[in-house]
Amino acid sequence: MIPEDKKEEVKQAADIVDVIADHVKLRRSGSNFTGLCPFHNEKTPSFSVSPSLGIFKCFGCGEGGDVFNFVMKMDGVGFEEAVRTLAERYNVVIPEKTEDQYDPQQYLKDGIYHALRFAGNFFYQTLAESDEAEYAREYLKNRGYPWKTVRKYGLGYASDRFDGLLKNAESAGINMQYLHESGLVKAREDDSGFYDTFRSRLMFPILNPSGKVIGFGGRTLSSDKKTPKYINSPQTPVYNKSDVLYGIHIAKNEIRKAGEVVLVEGYTDVISMHQAGIGNVVSTSGTSLTSGQVRVMKRYGDILLMIFDADVAGVKAAVRGISIALEEGMSVRVLTLPEGEDPDSYVREYGGEGFLDLKKKETGDFLHFLVGLARKEGRWQDPVERRKSINEILEAIAVMPDELSRANYIQELSSTSRIGDRALLQELDLIRGRMEKSRRRTAERTAMRAGRELQDSRRPSESRPGTERDPGSNSGTGSVSGSAHAGHASAPRHEGTGSQPAAAGKQGISARKGVALSPHRPAHAPRRPEYEKELIRLMLTFGEKIIEFVGNYCSEDDFEDTDLRNCYRDIMMRYQEGEPVSVETYSRREHPYPELVGEIVLQRHWVSEFGMKKRGVTIHRDANPVNTARGSLKSLKIRYLERTREKFLDKYAGASEDEKAEIQKWIRKATSEWNRYRQEPAETLFPDI
Ligand code: UTP
Ligand code: MN
Repeated sequence: MIPEDKKEEVKQAADIVDVIADHVKLRRSGSNFTGLCPFHNEKTPSFSVSPSLGIFKCFGCGEGGDVFNFVMKMDGVGFEEAVRTLAERYNVVIPEKTEDQYDPQQYLKDGIYHALRFAGNFFYQTLAESDEAEYAREYLKNRGYPWKTVRKYGLGYASDRFDGLLKNAESAGINMQYLHESGLVKAREDDSGFYDTFRSRLMFPILNPSGKVIGFGGRTLSSDKKTPKYINSPQTPVYNKSDVLYGIHIAKNEIRKAGEVVLVEGYTDVISMHQAGIGNVVSTSGTSLTSGQVRVMKRYGDILLMIFDADVAGVKAAVRGISIALEEGMSVRVLTLPEGEDPDSYVREYGGEGFLDLKKKETGDFLHFLVGLARKEGRWQDPVERRKSINEILEAIAVMPDELSRANYIQELSSTSRIGDRALLQELDLIRGRMEKSRRRTAERTAMRAGRELQDSRRPSESRPGTERDPGSNSGTGSVSGSAHAGHASAPRHEGTGSQPAAAGKQGISARKGVALSPHRPAHAPRRPEYEKELIRLMLTFGEKIIEFVGNYCSEDDFEDTDLRNCYRDIMMRYQEGEPVSVETYSRREHPYPELVGEIVLQRHWVSEFGMKKRGVTIHRDANPVNTARGSLKSLKIRYLERTREKFLDKYAGASEDEKAEIQKWIRKATSEWNRYRQEPAETLFPDI
């Protein structure tokens, strides 16, 4: 465990805006910052950061919390690792951990990171110093990479020995298991030990956005046709090929500035482009583009410039990549290089300026590119083939989440193909219908499978209590039975989420089992009752007077939402013990308070700054906080009585005759109370104390 005071120290040292800005383009808005949420797909910003409170909140998908929560969510790591990552970044020294307090998966990952970092240093040292690497140093110099570049990218050299790294890691005390799990060594066939994966290769360390080594690519320098030119790290717990972008840790800031990411194929393309002054460049390292990679890019910029070599072989895979990027909502542009060039060779010959000239002249949107391709291959000239090409293009347009963009491209396609836009739109509708159908089928299958798994997992203990912590089960739906319905993914009621694929709502229907179906929409978006949040907000904001007032009229049982109920209890306890109660104290508390406070406090800013102000309305909700509290108390009580009634009604069904009479009495009582709370004005229900 990390000591409490250390956590606090890290939290104080870490600048939440700085940390989040690595992943989100933030814009100042009053005392807060806003941007596009990195955790779901959106076109208009619902993501807000408050530097003064040290918290963030997305009103589209519900994610929120403090700087630790952000790193946990973003890097997919546990609490400990989040604290340690930030500690490292902000130079807070944390004492070493002991093994038994560890999440084993996290422990494994840490071990792997450690082994990878060791290897990175070792390869670098070898490149710098060993005689064996003399020809590699020569090679780099000839390719135009000065030592400054070698250092910046941490390039290295793996010797030709079978145990070069192995021996050195061993004597440095690196655990073999981690070296093995990191893919740096392989087990011998006869199980007699391990041997180095990378031998006689120039090494390119691959770093994640926060700058940790997660894997390597190794290039052979021999011209022997039998050895593959590059070999790369295998999949490991820290290296998932399908969301890795080479160069992202260096390119991310430039991408953010430009709003555009340039995608190339190879390691050397990235390095040479950066060296030529074009910083917003990353590569997929030879694999075809995946949606995971696109989502990483989208944290930094919306425009994707894909660069292709002129050879047709690469083009087919590229077309698939275009479609994936469009589907994730990026604007896709394409630049084809002259025959025989790759970005590296091009900038070496013509420099960064030359590249920018070419880019200006030759870049087209994806539609342009696809039509051009069909022309070049003679398909556009033949009526039947041309029809097919048009359909291919329509398929690409069909996946775009944004309706306006679809409409624009239909116009463009219409004028290029001289087919009326009405006809094209009709065709587009058909395609989208088909897509939606197949998406729904997949979703249903997933839900059914998940449902079965859920049932299976429940079978041994039938009497498991209802999912109390299910965040979807609250206000307004009328149902308070124990069944999980977190998946009733009615879209978050936020204005700016209109760009969700149309299928999302439908998927919700088959998502009754509480299964997250759409990767873009976390099913756990909390929908806590507004009036409950409002009461907590008032207590945190106004302190003593309001705490007394609210405490006088309600009890923790009135709260339906578990977290808010706990929060209420905690506030009352602290208050009675004379400890400070404020937004600040709670946003610095442990989980789940920061998330909760974020949701409660930032939402209000949100509403006032974006909703009301835009319409020229300022809200005076807090002119009289006691009155505001009264309104919320009224809703709280009404809802509590409804729940009570439903509880009795449930009981009634299975009760004996004697019990039934008793229960009826209670139901009548709850009903008349309910009526009273509904009819009387809040001032009489909750007079001043
Ligand atoms: P290229 O063959 O185009 O190499 O592969 P390159 O990047 O231009 O390399 P240099 O300039 O000759 O040094 C493009 C990318 O595809 C991946 C690598 O990531 C490479 O950078 N690749 C290529 C492999 O993973 N394995 C291979 O055998 C070849
Ligand atoms: Mn090359």
